[in-house]
Amino acid sequence: MTDLSHLSADDWDEIKFPRPDTNEFDDVVERALSRRGFLSGVVAFGSGAAVMGTGVGSLLSTTSAARADAHAANFAFDGIPIQTDATIHVPEGYDWNVLARWGDPLFSDAEPFDPVNGIPVASSDRVFGENTDGMELFAVDGKQLIAVNHEYPNIDTNLPNKGENGFTADDVTLLQNIQGVTVMEVAEGADGWEIVIDSPYNRRIHHNTPMTFAGPAAGHDMLKTSADPDGMTVLGTMNNCGSGITPWGTYLTCEENFNGYFGVADPEAEFSASEGFARYGVGAEGRYGYELHQARFDVSREPNEPNRFGWVVEIDPANPDSTPVKRTAMGRFKHENAEVVIAASGQVVVYLGDDERGEYLYKYVSNGTYTEGGSTEGLLDDGKLFVASFNDDMTGTWLELTPETTGMDAGEILIHTRMAASAVGGTTMDRPEWVAVNPVAAQAYVSLTNNKNRGIKANAGGDETPVNGPNPREANNYGQIVRWMPDGDDHAAPGFAWDLFVMAGNPTNQDGLYKGSDNVNSGNLFNSPDGMQIDTTGTVWIQTDGDDSNEDEFDGMGNNQMLAGDPASGEIRRFLTGPNGSEVTGLTWSSDLRTMFVGIQHPGAPFPDGQGSLPRSTVVTIKRSDGAAVG
Ligand code: FEO
Ligand code: CA
Ligand code: CA
Repeated sequence: MTDLSHLSADDWDEIKFPRPDTNEFDDVVERALSRRGFLSGVVAFGSGAAVMGTGVGSLLSTTSAARADAHAANFAFDGIPIQTDATIHVPEGYDWNVLARWGDPLFSDAEPFDPVNGIPVASSDRVFGENTDGMELFAVDGKQLIAVNHEYPNIDTNLPNKGENGFTADDVTLLQNIQGVTVMEVAEGADGWEIVIDSPYNRRIHHNTPMTFAGPAAGHDMLKTSADPDGMTVLGTMNNCGSGITPWGTYLTCEENFNGYFGVADPEAEFSASEGFARYGVGAEGRYGYELHQARFDVSREPNEPNRFGWVVEIDPANPDSTPVKRTAMGRFKHENAEVVIAASGQVVVYLGDDERGEYLYKYVSNGTYTEGGSTEGLLDDGKLFVASFNDDMTGTWLELTPETTGMDAGEILIHTRMAASAVGGTTMDRPEWVAVNPVAAQAYVSLTNNKNRGIKANAGGDETPVNGPNPREANNYGQIVRWMPDGDDHAAPGFAWDLFVMAGNPTNQDGLYKGSDNVNSGNLFNSPDGMQIDTTGTVWIQTDGDDSNEDEFDGMGNNQMLAGDPASGEIRRFLTGPNGSEVTGLTWSSDLRTMFVGIQHPGAPFPDGQGSLPRSTVVTIKRSDGAAVG
């Protein structure tokens, strides 16, 4: 069998499910270059750019009203240079330390981590998981609890002794245990922050943890399986990417590339991908051998099991015995994160991105209202779901997904949300990653990480991906951050105005729009914005997951990094560089804001333990040397 386990999720989707209209590589490059040639005579963001007809020129000269009333960030640090080495760098006046590495014990009965062999299967659900991603901090009874995602496995790292003959049942169990979510108590002592081993709050939630469905799709025929004929209960949450936090103290974990865990065990079995499977990338060949050992992952035997993943899941970190709940009202797609904001009316608004080339940006608005200390029953189950439509005149509309607008039943809209969004004509986007809402101005931001297919190939549903306002570059290898200001400063409103906060690019060796926007310069180059959080002062923290080759169009960008952006001036400074091969993802703060927690995912180097050790995904703490707040 082909070993597909080393590809990134998006490359795997492309190889397994080539889209129609595939171009030869040379052809793609030629078209991209000719577009650059066309643009090279345009002063990128001056009045001349208006000739493009997209209004990009005015987008980036900006400082619209939204910028004017945003709080100006007072950067307390000087931006740092790029790095290409195997460790972390932060500005002068800041220090970093390790908090939690893959394999660190959460419970004293776990076997210690072996630097060469990793962790034994018997301890694999008693330790901090692999590939840290979204995280949030909760203050509970005077304790600091962190809930943190473990997105996907690195086969070479997690199964260093894996044989040539495929995945064994123990291999699969270990992988299932080290993914999902960790809830852990952390505390700051004389030696810095540490996991509180054996805290009663410590908990691992993984691919076999029992959970329930709630909301309009719960009990739908398309969620029923032989193990769950009612369509109401499910084992596990998978490919937990970004996060969210509710004002009532719960954690939201978002299921992203769930499709890769399903396959067909018997090569002779009858299988043809349904329309739903094709749109979501579910096929006959799984990435991790689950289907060989557990029948529910074999889609020729349990064709509805994949419909039970791709949801936002709510977890109560304060109650280790609570059952996680899949909230179907927020739709099913490759969820990145879930950014919650309470509208002036008290309605709960959740912004949601679907991370695949040419998929959509969504918004959920509750019918009920939140009051502090009041009942939260139904707030994430009873509401309306919208897809974003951007106009090139810098306005936009949220299009509601209803049986009338989509021709689908209410449950199907939520299970096949992508098809519902296609039906109403949402705007296909350059891979929506994290959404972040500014707490001090009525604005929301979405990272559009990159999209090499923009203007070249349709999305998986056949929707065209023309170059347009918020996605202004063909063959977009750099990414951009789009920002919107809801009408009337009301996040529940149906309309908004938008602009581009930044277009990543390379002003040192590119032309036209590929130079990036005017707040990108030789001192703060980056590509592929992904993780994003906005702190209490309004500073936009941007984390990257891109090409760290430091060559050609990525020359001068170095390793993946974290930057800080000022919503008022647009200034961006580089704050942190990660070890080579890694992605920087996941960010939260201690209750006193004096410690920042940052995630390092899939380091390529033997970080943080050094030569002779397996690389270990790690959450680090960052503090100012003078102990002042960092957020
Ligand atoms: Fe898990 Fe789209 O990042
Ligand atoms: Ca991400
Ligand atoms: Ca990414």
